[in-house]
Amino acid sequence: MDFTRSDFPEGFQFAAATSSYQIEGHSFGGAGKTHWDTFAATPGNVVRAEHGDIACDHYHRWEEDLDLMQAMGLDAYRFSTSWARVLPDGRGTPNQEGLDFYDRLVDGMLARGLNPMVTLYHWELPVALADLGGWRNPDISHWLADYATVIMERIGDRVFSAAPINEPWCVAWLSHFMGHHAPGLRDIRAAAHAMHHVLTGHGRAIQAMRALGVKNLGAVCNFEYAHPADDTPQAAVAAQLYDGHYNRFFLGGLFHGAYPQDVMQGLAPHMPKGWENDFALIGQPLDWCGLNYYTCKRIAPTDGAWPAHTEVAGPLPKTQMGWEIYPDGLHHFLGWVHENYTKGLPLYVTENGMAHPDQIGVPDQARIDYLNAHVGAARRAIKDGVPVAGYTFWSLLDNYEWALGYEKRFGLIHVDFDTLDRTPKASYHALAKALAR
Ligand code: FCB
Repeated sequence: MDFTRSDFPEGFQFAAATSSYQIEGHSFGGAGKTHWDTFAATPGNVVRAEHGDIACDHYHRWEEDLDLMQAMGLDAYRFSTSWARVLPDGRGTPNQEGLDFYDRLVDGMLARGLNPMVTLYHWELPVALADLGGWRNPDISHWLADYATVIMERIGDRVFSAAPINEPWCVAWLSHFMGHHAPGLRDIRAAAHAMHHVLTGHGRAIQAMRALGVKNLGAVCNFEYAHPADDTPQAAVAAQLYDGHYNRFFLGGLFHGAYPQDVMQGLAPHMPKGWENDFALIGQPLDWCGLNYYTCKRIAPTDGAWPAHTEVAGPLPKTQMGWEIYPDGLHHFLGWVHENYTKGLPLYVTENGMAHPDQIGVPDQARIDYLNAHVGAARRAIKDGVPVAGYTFWSLLDNYEWALGYEKRFGLIHVDFDTLDRTPKASYHALAKALAR
């Protein structure tokens, strides 16, 4: 790598990230079914109908995975707890085996000097709650807060930081408007309700955790830089609106107590009753904000219904996902979030990394280059005065990349999905060298 730990402020947290459904194996340990299981079982949704039954078998191999992180010299591990593993029916009786698992995992992190950074919801909604309308149902904020209480009563005394929800845009827009992720809806009313309830859920879960005395509470949003596809004023408007629903909507709710006007032009008629009165709940004080960043998009106008825009291919080099590599976007968002919303709160890059068709024995130089460029962008932001407090690599392991199945490899560690053997990649070794004390 072209940086070392000493290029960063004292206490800066280098971390790796995963999420429960993507690595644990949901057929083990009494976990309930999730809407990803049923989404994957429906033809056409997921490449080869792949699912998370076994995934990386982290449920049984977690000690090896924590050992690998310790050997890499990381300071922290960003993981998520599965709602359906903790509460198989979404509510009611907890699964003790599931609570025991996260208890062991957190102790295992602490024993290895890894700070536990927990996310409570990284997309595996229990089917019993999906049956009740999932994120469309206003009661979900109470269900999420109750789940937050159950899991945090068990591990909340030992976590370094906690966030209720990973990537509100993906939970709401990608899953209820674009239909690409579970529950696979394409409906503007469903999307508007989910956009709002994901934030009321966030607020109530923060309240529940704070009431238990859990420290260092934050939010994790994802960001994409929206370039107009060409020089026309129409493309500028289209890109602006994409930026609105993607980058400005959730931060507006969390930090300004309002949603952006341009987005509300389309969503207002479809919002849940009384949404205007929920901003006190949504805007709970936060201790930090996390940014997940991967790419930029080129946005063009289309005919047809609001928001009347589409993505077109761009000119930059691309990852295995087909995502353009644009580190300047990360630099932009760190400064922009700090200046316009968080105004001094510590910012964490909570996800950044790339997919690459890695093979054992072939160095993943492309990933090393990608990470150098993006970590460099964060360094520039720090030089500008942005309080960036940590950097999290997505992902520790090759894993279940949602609708794209197991083919897209994001890991610093290669996983053979037949034997489940772990093999650190060149990027892992390069980071271990950069992070050595
Ligand atoms: C993010 C998700 C994560 C993974 C990466 C590639 O949007 O949080 O689970 O899928 O993208």
